[in-house]
Amino acid sequence: MAPALCPGRNVSPQPQSSEQLAGRTEANTKIKLTRCGKIILSIIMMVIATVTLGLIVYFVAFRNTPFYYHISFKTCNIDYDNKFEKPYSQEYMDLNYKIVSLINETFHESKLRRQYVNSHIVQASQAKGKVVVHAVLKFKSCFKNNAAKFWDRIETILYQKLQSKTGTLCVDPSSFKMSDMEMPAAENLLNTCCGQRTITRSGNKIAGGKDAEEGEWPWQASLQQGKVHHCGATLISNSWLVTAAHCFLRSKDPKEWNVGFGLLLSDQKTKRSVKNIIIHENYHYPAHEHDIAVVHLSSPVLYTSSIRRVCLPEATYRFPHNSEAVVTGWGTLKSDGESPNILQKGLVKIIDNKTCNNQEVYGGVITPGMLCAGYLEGKVDACQGDSGGPLVSMDSKGTWFLAGIVSWGDECALPNKPGVYTRVTHYRDWIYSKTGL
Ligand code: ARG
Repeated sequence: MAPALCPGRNVSPQPQSSEQLAGRTEANTKIKLTRCGKIILSIIMMVIATVTLGLIVYFVAFRNTPFYYHISFKTCNIDYDNKFEKPYSQEYMDLNYKIVSLINETFHESKLRRQYVNSHIVQASQAKGKVVVHAVLKFKSCFKNNAAKFWDRIETILYQKLQSKTGTLCVDPSSFKMSDMEMPAAENLLNTCCGQRTITRSGNKIAGGKDAEEGEWPWQASLQQGKVHHCGATLISNSWLVTAAHCFLRSKDPKEWNVGFGLLLSDQKTKRSVKNIIIHENYHYPAHEHDIAVVHLSSPVLYTSSIRRVCLPEATYRFPHNSEAVVTGWGTLKSDGESPNILQKGLVKIIDNKTCNNQEVYGGVITPGMLCAGYLEGKVDACQGDSGGPLVSMDSKGTWFLAGIVSWGDECALPNKPGVYTRVTHYRDWIYSKTGL
């Protein structure tokens, strides 16, 4: 078969005239120029793309880089009182409110209003009988390369404010000090308040519950024998938890236990071993009374936006009948059902002991140290594996208090068989006697 004709092959070259040649050379130069232009253009395009990409990465990564500062200054009209040593005394909270409002106002009126995040009083010490305020301030900024300039701007804004209008507060501006802080230590201080959640969701509508979200119930912990979830527990300080006494029926040896924090049981990054377990001295299995224990961690946790402590109610507080409360845990989704990996929440209602002791309910076995919550029609309840975990209730200011500890119930979510909890107010003094909290 004759070979196929291909350009430049089997075709004799045709001689060219000089004009033709000249024209071709010009055309070649144009082609070369166009090629050259194309190469330059693509280089420029590549440079632009790289720069744009770099800028995007820079802004995504650093725009929200948090910066933390520790500031302190001496007041001249607040006399020091021992009550300022107790971070949750009314005096301390009033002082915190006053100072935080002043700092908020200062930055909201300044050019750094978009960078300022929040602040918190972390200590009140004394100098010559007057209060010295120590606070942590948090900013988000893209000034990564120019931290020194950012520092200066903050310092100037604060210093100017302290020198001028501070309302009823008198400040000695010469006592003003400011220093950098590392993120974990600063976040720990910013998150020490009890009963505050990072996210606030309404309609929390366990058995009959819903998946929880990160930071929603930051005091919830998992009490694990070895690495296996056994019970829930509630963080009440950076090193103490409350749980149920019956969780330790199999073993009371602290070495066998661990505590994990985090929404997903399979991915709990913060874990602690246990230093000590204190079980209520009057708890005697199989009786359900005095079902409470406190657990001391081998080392404290650092508070973060998703690890925080709940508030403990005063012994005299009564959670009103029919008020809403939320129970959380990794317990089974129904009696003898499957265990979830993601923390569950269930909205329940407090039931008074009289109703709970009705013949058709628990017929008289509910003692003053117990508290019932759920619905007489069933539907939502704690279940196996939720024991020791929290039943919490929110006050009118949005602060969450520990009302109960999951203790027992007849199966789960059955009609007329609500969940029975250890009544925390009843054991408030016992908790204090063991933990000092
Ligand atoms: N005792 C169970 C446990 O060890 C908790 C029972 C709670 N039951 C209930 N129906 N509320 O996990």
